[in-house]
Amino acid sequence: MTSSDAIEQAKTHFGTLLEGQLARIEAMKSEGEWTDFSTLEPIIIGVCGGDGIGPQISAEAQRVLETLLADQVAAGKVEFRTIEGLTIENRAAQNAAIPADVLKELKKCHIILKGPTTTPRAGDPWPNIESANVAMRKELDLFANVRPVRVPEDGIDWIFFRENTEDLYALGSDGIVVEDDLAIDFRVITAPGSERIIRLAFEHAAKNGINRLTVVTKANVVKTSDGMFLDAARRISGDYPDVKWDDWYIDIMTAKLLDPKRRTEFRVMVLPNLYGDILTDEAAELQGGVGTAGSANIGKRYAMFEAIHGSAPRMVDEGRAAYADPSSMIRAGSMLLAHIGFGEAARKLEQALDICGRFEKRLTITGRDTGAKGSEFAKYILETMADPNLESRWNDYQKQLVKS
Ligand code: IPM
Ligand code: MG
Repeated sequence: MTSSDAIEQAKTHFGTLLEGQLARIEAMKSEGEWTDFSTLEPIIIGVCGGDGIGPQISAEAQRVLETLLADQVAAGKVEFRTIEGLTIENRAAQNAAIPADVLKELKKCHIILKGPTTTPRAGDPWPNIESANVAMRKELDLFANVRPVRVPEDGIDWIFFRENTEDLYALGSDGIVVEDDLAIDFRVITAPGSERIIRLAFEHAAKNGINRLTVVTKANVVKTSDGMFLDAARRISGDYPDVKWDDWYIDIMTAKLLDPKRRTEFRVMVLPNLYGDILTDEAAELQGGVGTAGSANIGKRYAMFEAIHGSAPRMVDEGRAAYADPSSMIRAGSMLLAHIGFGEAARKLEQALDICGRFEKRLTITGRDTGAKGSEFAKYILETMADPNLESRWNDYQKQLVKS
């Protein structure tokens, strides 16, 4: 092919992508209202185990949730449903990020609890299909990836609002190799897409009396698309005069999260997808590792809750899956409870997770047989939650830690 043919082909491809994105913008503009979970009966929670350690850790999270919601399940108010087929084997066989029949079942649920799924990359034994997470976020329009990170003893109380459907992720599997030596990917930022995530972050700050919101971009260099994100923040901030906001660049932000003197100032962060992906792994590491952090993927209609880490196939290969830490999935479970209106149960679960994983640590998870099994840890959580003195126990630990 001549260079000019290659360029023409690339232009056609680009044109198709632009049409798709303009259609997406129109869909965003006409999207409906937020689901009101108090009017749903039953609320259907679909559980996908995923790959690698996913089935083990999601089963533990499901067990904890089913115990907490036992009354609601018995009364027909909540239903748990197992969704089969979101495995790398089936996805590879059907050559689809999410096979059509699986997607159909997912869409019949209101909420998804999802174990980590293997994301193929070039050179793997699998076809290089799109990540199931990324596909699900797009298919169900889960535009907000909400990731709280708390380390009370260090004064850290952060919540990240990561945009979840745009940026380099939107067309991450649609890049082009124009000629052998030229690869181009596309970064998508839209005004409505930026506004909705930024508004959600401001709402969170305003509702919770948090007077500090930080917008993170690299708008000094990535002028057009990050510029649009920052402009959206300027516009939305006008509706929240009581929330003080500022903007930071991703590089210095990454550095400042490690600065014990400065990092405690940050509270609510809102940022485009890829910066959010990276910054939240760093933040989770400060809390005790990516195994400790949960992630809520929220859209107006659907929501999906997951761990922030991957499927750890090596643990399975080495026969260590039973020793995987289910904390991140259980934490995702507590965000799920809060999202569907069971705030009290969510708080109890958070407190039990803090006690078991950070304060008391009667069991330690090492990821191998030197530590506890995931099922033992889940049992420990359930026992702790059943303690009538849970609240005061948590408060006592919390005070001790902050003092020392
Ligand atoms: C995450 C993960 C995913 C992402 C991967 C598995 C595609 O890292 O949820 O942060 O990049 O978003
Ligand atoms: Mg990530």
